[in-house]
Amino acid sequence: MIESSDFDFSGQRVLVTGAAGGIGSAMAAAFAAHGGEVILADIATNGLAEQADALGNGATFLQYDQSDSASIVALSDAAGPVDVLCNNAGAMQAGPFLEQSPETIERMITVDLTGPVLVARHIGEGMVARGRGVIVNTASQLAFHGSGFRTAYATAKAGIVQFTKSAAAEWAPHGVRVVALAPGRTLTAMNAPLLATEEQRAEGLKHIPAGRYGDREEMAKLALFLASDAASYVVGETLVADGGYVLL
Ligand SMILES: NC(=O)c1ccc[n+]([C@@H]2O[C@H](COP(=O)([O-])OP(=O)(O)OC[C@H]3O[C@@H](n4cnc5c(N)ncnc54)[C@H](O)[C@@H]3O)[C@@H](O)[C@H]2O)c1
Repeated sequence: MIESSDFDFSGQRVLVTGAAGGIGSAMAAAFAAHGGEVILADIATNGLAEQADALGNGATFLQYDQSDSASIVALSDAAGPVDVLCNNAGAMQAGPFLEQSPETIERMITVDLTGPVLVARHIGEGMVARGRGVIVNTASQLAFHGSGFRTAYATAKAGIVQFTKSAAAEWAPHGVRVVALAPGRTLTAMNAPLLATEEQRAEGLKHIPAGRYGDREEMAKLALFLASDAASYVVGETLVADGGYVLL
């Protein structure tokens, strides 16, 4: 039987990276609403203090840069013991691969793959030592199909899916579950430039059987589910929430 206590995060510390962004801020709100003590982390701090105040439950914020390994260590030290990590921060720059500079390509691989792997490595170390914890990585539907004009980003997100499986296999015996969420096209700042015009939005919808774009609250609910006891036997899996995009 599903118990409402399965979704009770009271007494748990929940670190959400990318918490200033669309999906991350919805995740932070969802966990706080279910009793979690949320730590909001992001490179951007604009409004994060107010966001933490509004969430209550002892929510705090920390600034860090996911492209800087020293900053990730500092984040992990400052966060202290974490029960749930929403490893969600990311950045995407679209464009023809050959027109992207090597620095741009390297930065996307760093922010979207190396960075989250290191965040999980440092936060996960404490979880393994304590014998409990859940990591929910944010991948992308683009991990599952080729995507011209987002080549470096899609490559990094495919790496997140493999990292999720591999870390899960290593840490499940230590009581730590590693899972991932793969959002489809969700209306946030990240893809606003790609969906700026009515024409772009209509064209995009042709590829989504559900006939609409995703909502950040929908993604937050799935992160909450994946981190909850209702998903206690889900290990290494990536849950795709894309309105059926990958089916076409
Ligand atoms: N929106 C979508 O359609 C979509 C689809 C699939 C996957 N995703 C993934 O969902 C996650 C959240 O994206 P979103 O849609 O909310 O976008 P967003 O741009 O609103 O949020 C991303 C957040 O990550 C933060 N960030 C970027 N670079 C950082 C760095 N170097 N250090 C620390 N923080 C950094 C940004 O400041 C921002 O607050 C990302 O991992 C993204 O790749 C989004």
